[in-house]
Amino acid sequence: MNTRFLDACRCRPVDRTPVWLMRQAGRYLPEYRRVRSACSFLELCKTPELAVEVTLQPVDILGVDAAILFSDILIPIEPMGMRLDFVPGPVFEEPVRSLADVEQLRVPAMEESVPFVLETIRQLRRELEGRVPLIGFGGAPFTLACYMVEGKGSKDFGSIKKMMYAAPEIYAALMDKVSTALIAYLKAQIAAGAQAIQVFDTWGGILAPSDYQRYVLPYTARVIAGLGSEVPVIHFVKGAGAMLELVKRAGGDVVGLDWHVGLAAARDVLGPGVAVQGNLDPTVLYGPKSLIEAEVKRILDENNGRPGHIFNLGHGILPDVPPENAVHMVECVHRLSSLPSKGGGLNNSFSPRVGEGDKGASD
Ligand code: CP3
Repeated sequence: MNTRFLDACRCRPVDRTPVWLMRQAGRYLPEYRRVRSACSFLELCKTPELAVEVTLQPVDILGVDAAILFSDILIPIEPMGMRLDFVPGPVFEEPVRSLADVEQLRVPAMEESVPFVLETIRQLRRELEGRVPLIGFGGAPFTLACYMVEGKGSKDFGSIKKMMYAAPEIYAALMDKVSTALIAYLKAQIAAGAQAIQVFDTWGGILAPSDYQRYVLPYTARVIAGLGSEVPVIHFVKGAGAMLELVKRAGGDVVGLDWHVGLAAARDVLGPGVAVQGNLDPTVLYGPKSLIEAEVKRILDENNGRPGHIFNLGHGILPDVPPENAVHMVECVHRLSSLPSKGGGLNNSFSPRVGEGDKGASD
């Protein structure tokens, strides 16, 4: 039974650094494209047998230390009363703009409205038999609200920001409702067997730190606190390298890092007791094997043996990455982190860095 990932979430010692990839099931895998060619993305999410199959593909192909439920952050928004389409990006034909729109949204009973998600989780736990732990996930309230108000992806997020600044009472009512629904959704995943939860705040980093603190942090904090401490929570806010103290304050056992922040600097800000996940630039996987190995080593060296590091990309794997490069990345993490080499290496051999001038393991 591989508990490396769960141990690292709790900052416990591990034999080698656990690794998984955000969006590890997806279009870069021919095995995924084969399943996907026979149905739409939403059908795939809503058919447990198929969702189980594509969830397991990267576990077998890449040799990662965790599985992540195959679904989408927008799945629980549909039963709130918003018709969802993927073309291939997500589209809500009737975005939320007024207080009446917010009032019409339902907070659904999750067992009735997303039974396929919970059934997928139950089947996965049976199929995995403890081989690797299963991660459940949801979008953070702000990222979900971005899609609900914009209606689709956006470059400038004008509509959600206009609501936030010009109609703060509508924004607050929406965030309140989304947070309530999200707690129910994630608790249902935990009850069904999810062994960790990742909260994706893909768009939290578009805000100034003071606005993040005022308009995002209280809601994410409520959601994370609402989940209790039964399973570890990974809190990933993309683009938040300059406000990690605020991300930490919102909560989570693990803070996800994108590649715009150095892992060593991030750990210094977060302090011991908070694990980190990350943070290879996903485009490095376009490079040659030697570059991938050097970048994996650099990140392991930056962690410098501190307990509580989960290796991952800084955001999702890209659809045109050669699968063998992802396999190579996972192999490099496992091989380089199990060598008791100076600087990188074992997650349980942490020697504290003494300060700026310290050259650490290199001297
Ligand atoms: O990590 C995993 O392997 C689990 C599966 C997963 C998907 N989406 C599958 C997916 C997860 C964790 C997500 C989360 C998600 N979805 C986020 C947060 C993480 C992030 O990437 O920032 C967001 C913002 C979404 C919304 C979403 N779903 C977008 C913007 C898109 C289009 C992206 C694109 O690449 O075209 C999707 C579709 C989607 N979600 C696909 C997959 C595999 C591609 C669908 C297809 O097969 O065509």
